[in-house]
Amino acid sequence: MSQLSLAVDLAGLRLRNPTMNAAGVLGMSSPLLRRVYEGGAGAVVTKSIGVEPRAGHPNPTVVAVEGGMLNAMGLPNPGAKYFTGEIRSLKEAGAPVVASFFGASEEEFVEVACILAEVGADALELNCSCPNVGEEVGLLGADPASVEEVTAAVREAVDLPLFVKLTPNVADIVEIARAAELGGADAVTAVNTLKALAVDIDMRRPVLANATGGLSGPALKPVALRCVWEIAEVVDLHIIGCGGVSDWRDAVEFLLCGASAVEIGTAVMTRGFEVFRDVAEGIRAYLEENGFREVGEIVGLAHEA
Ligand code: SIN
Repeated sequence: MSQLSLAVDLAGLRLRNPTMNAAGVLGMSSPLLRRVYEGGAGAVVTKSIGVEPRAGHPNPTVVAVEGGMLNAMGLPNPGAKYFTGEIRSLKEAGAPVVASFFGASEEEFVEVACILAEVGADALELNCSCPNVGEEVGLLGADPASVEEVTAAVREAVDLPLFVKLTPNVADIVEIARAAELGGADAVTAVNTLKALAVDIDMRRPVLANATGGLSGPALKPVALRCVWEIAEVVDLHIIGCGGVSDWRDAVEFLLCGASAVEIGTAVMTRGFEVFRDVAEGIRAYLEENGFREVGEIVGLAHEA
């Protein structure tokens, strides 16, 4: 029996292995998130939740593109009060729950965070980086002062591991990660989707009703790896790698660049819920074959080369 451990501790959030789903397209209902957990994920991440129910953008909201997918969901969600039932149901299934949330103002960010914490979320992921909405719905992730301020307000109100999900749609992601650190975050999730566009040449218009959407999947991976790398060089926070993780090799690349865990989104659509178990077991085999005993031993190793 191997003594090797896949367990990861993210500022008090203990995961049985370093995989989670990415908030985004999935995660609005507990049955689907239960399947994520049954598929082997170390924890589940909810769809981003706001104070009030929100319909999101009209269809089409998702389109497959070369190397991935574009989505412009527009943060649809049933609102924090309704969502408490979904979190309770996930807790009954034994899944550690990372509640993703957003707000239209600092006060709303704090209000939702408090509701989600009270109902039993194990950690919070502050989403200030959705490329499909404007500032009026919480897109403030390109402004370091706002990121620091909102993070600090939530930090002050809630005593849970706090992750801030960063946008790659900025000139200097390190500056934003540093702002999250100054605000008191425990980790940053790098990254949300890259703002992009797909065109229908027969209709002669953008495919998505919102015109632009967020690019995820394999095409995003090199950008996300670069972001994790740059943040790890400068900022002393846990990093959760997100963007184009489709198999265990991708996950190991993120770990070597400095991520302590990874989130998987688009590959759930292409590979099904078993992707989490496959990635975790692939990481185990890699550690075993290379003489490592735990995940933490390879985090950031590429920086030492
Ligand atoms: C969306 O709901 O538009 C996607 C979520 C996100 O990008 O944060």
